[in-house]
Amino acid sequence: MAVNIFFCVALISSLIIISNASLVVNFYKDPKAEELVREEMIAIQNEDPTLMPALLRLHFHDCFVRGCDASVLLNSWNGTAEKDAPPNLSLRGFNAIERIKTKLEKSCRGIVSCADVLAIAARDAVYLSHGPDYDVRTGRRDGNTSSAAEALLNLPPANGNISESLELYAEKNLTAKDLVAQHTFGVAHCTSFSDRLYNFTGKGDQDPSLNSTYAEKLKQECLIGNNTTVVEMNNQACL
Ligand code: HEM
Ligand SMILES: *[C@@H]1O[C@H](CO)[C@@H](O)[C@H](O)[C@H]1NC(C)=O
Ligand SMILES: *[C@@H]1O[C@H](CO)[C@@H](O)[C@H](O)[C@H]1NC(C)=O
Ligand SMILES: *[C@@H]1O[C@H](CO)[C@@H](O)[C@H](O)[C@H]1NC(C)=O
Ligand SMILES: *[C@@H]1O[C@H](CO)[C@@H](O)[C@H](O)[C@H]1NC(C)=O
Ligand SMILES: *[C@@H]1O[C@H](CO)[C@@H](O)[C@H](O)[C@H]1NC(C)=O
Ligand SMILES: *[C@@H]1O[C@H](CO)[C@@H](O)[C@H](O)[C@H]1NC(C)=O
Ligand SMILES: *[C@@H]1O[C@H](CO)[C@@H](O)[C@H](O)[C@H]1NC(C)=O
Ligand SMILES: *[C@@H]1O[C@H](CO)[C@@H](O)[C@H](O)[C@H]1NC(C)=O
Ligand SMILES: *[C@@H]1O[C@H](CO)[C@@H](O)[C@H](O)[C@H]1NC(C)=O
Repeated sequence: MAVNIFFCVALISSLIIISNASLVVNFYKDPKAEELVREEMIAIQNEDPTLMPALLRLHFHDCFVRGCDASVLLNSWNGTAEKDAPPNLSLRGFNAIERIKTKLEKSCRGIVSCADVLAIAARDAVYLSHGPDYDVRTGRRDGNTSSAAEALLNLPPANGNISESLELYAEKNLTAKDLVAQHTFGVAHCTSFSDRLYNFTGKGDQDPSLNSTYAEKLKQECLIGNNTTVVEMNNQACL
């Protein structure tokens, strides 16, 4: 989209240089930076509350590849950036980040990195969705490199099983509790798990470890052949 020239891309070079090791709470001494993000996040939530989980996930996708450097936002002319990798397919919220960054640029041009915007927006998304509030350490620098191949290598496969996912979490010092908590809001595409409903071992079977009542409910929502259907993570029917 030609109109969508990300400020985040244009401003990479004007950012303050600081190493990852020295991230601090309130790196931006003027509390207005984080206030502006929260203000805009409230407006964004009012328009589309489903963007809240999407923005938390965007931060995660950014961080798992090359660290939290906003590389997930970079566009490529030849289809080789992180956002071009197959696991990106369900990423949303790029326009929301752009909108927040635009607001910050009006007030304090060239100061707040896009990587920090992603981190602060993710925190606000959790808080505004009635999750906990927490301090975010800031001072990240934006990267200049974004690679689809690296994204493929570093991002967990959407259909990974629980042991595989927990292993990947452990590599980042994250726990099973983190995994569950982070997936208590938002949606999943049926295509991310429909093999467990319809074709678990390639013989038209169902994953035997899946609660059958829950599986029946999911099958009603996830019709074969429809790749666009999404279901709530927090499925009331199985609470
Ligand atoms: C091993 C690591 C992970 C795996 C395998 C995984 C897997 C998934 C899958 C399959 C979906 C559904 C995507 C779709 O079909 O639309 C999803 C969504 C989501 N994930 Fe994860 N995830 C992982 C790590 C994380 C982390 C670290 C976070 C948060 C920091 C996170 C937050 C979310 C959120 C909020 C959604 C909902 C997105 C939306 O509603 O648009 N995930 N995840
Ligand atoms: C895509 O563009 C990047 C940056 O210009 C370049 O490094 C890379 O080799 C290109 N890849 C392909 C497959 O053309
Ligand atoms: C994700 O990657 C696909 C190609 O695999 C591309 O067509 C699509 O535009 C990308 N999505 C986003 C949000 O960048
Ligand atoms: C990105 O490129 C700019 C301009 O070329 C440079 O000043 C900056 O140090 C680079 N950043 C990183 C993280 O390599
Ligand atoms: C989970 O997936 C991994 C990688 O595909 C595989 O090696 C492992 O056996 C699977 N574990 C279970 C419990 O299915
Ligand atoms: C995880 O924790 C260990 C021990 O505290 C530390 O050495 C390691 O650097 C941490 N890894 C990550 C990815 O933060
Ligand atoms: C089930 O999986 C097998 C093996 O991957 C595949 O050959 C078959 O076409 C699949 N069936 C359906 C209905 O998708
Ligand atoms: C759904 O996705 C599958 C696998 O990627 C593809 O073969 C099929 O053509 C898609 N169906 C539709 C209706 O887009
Ligand atoms: C897929 O399902 C959605 C509802 O989840 C429906 O709105 C849409 O029309 C369906 N698409 C197709 C191709 O059946
Ligand atoms: C499956 O889930 C239903 C609904 O929560 C519950 O009543 C039932 O006991 C569960 N079945 C098994 C086998 O765990």
